[in-house]
Amino acid sequence: MEKTGKNAPIGVFDSGVGGLTVVREIMRQIPNEKIVYFGDTARVPYGSKSKDTITRFSRQIVHFLESQDVKAIVIACNTASAYALEQIEKEIDIPIIGVVKPGAKVAAETTKNGKIGVIATEGTISSGIYSSYIKEIKKDATVIGKACPLFVPLVEEGLWEDPVTDEIARRYLTEFTQQDKDIDTLILGCTHYPLIRSTLGRIAGEKVTLVNPAYETARELKELLEQKDLLNDRELGLGDNRYQFFVSDKADKFQNFANSIIKYGILSAKVINIEEY
Ligand code: DGL
Repeated sequence: MEKTGKNAPIGVFDSGVGGLTVVREIMRQIPNEKIVYFGDTARVPYGSKSKDTITRFSRQIVHFLESQDVKAIVIACNTASAYALEQIEKEIDIPIIGVVKPGAKVAAETTKNGKIGVIATEGTISSGIYSSYIKEIKKDATVIGKACPLFVPLVEEGLWEDPVTDEIARRYLTEFTQQDKDIDTLILGCTHYPLIRSTLGRIAGEKVTLVNPAYETARELKELLEQKDLLNDRELGLGDNRYQFFVSDKADKFQNFANSIIKYGILSAKVINIEEY
């Protein structure tokens, strides 16, 4: 078997901890797969940086993941999926997917009145990518985007259920709760947002269905591995390094966060110098 065959790990990356919500979903849907995760904790946030910078960062991370002999890559960051996926997929030989297309597909299939809201980072919103993908599937959809830059630090501070988060969410979501907007579907277009899902759901109201792109991304990943005959067919044992986590800074902070959202024993992370790749 060549080194990136069926039994090789899947590479997943994000600007930091947010992509763990995608990892959690991959672990649920394809538990017999090994994962190598990279979180760019030294250079987070990606949401306020330019396309060129995000593409350069993503390219370095992809080179690192290739050095770990991964068989496929998931860009578990909306901003990097929006800015870098199209370019990076031309540069590598292994399959690579992002989170935006799967999220857009579910939203287009979910909406009944054709009015979809997207909350995400400034980068993802200004790229207009959710709107383009949704309109490929549902031409007459109305897509309203809103950048919510304060959600990422609130999530990282652990304020998942907090009056401060409530207040900020109320202000951001006013964009959608106004009568004339009347959205029935809201995409959580940033990997941190599923962690404040209950706050967002409560404020958006029961008529609005929340879409977390992570579920569909994991489903499409499974389908892709099946199609390419790349699903792991070997039982993973104790000696296998099932889940490996790498970061560019602050491994202990990352570990605490990872252990609070992924219930798989104690996960540990290692710092690498990503600028070398
Ligand atoms: N993970 C990023 C995303 O999904 C958000 C955090 C950041 O700004 O780096 O867009």
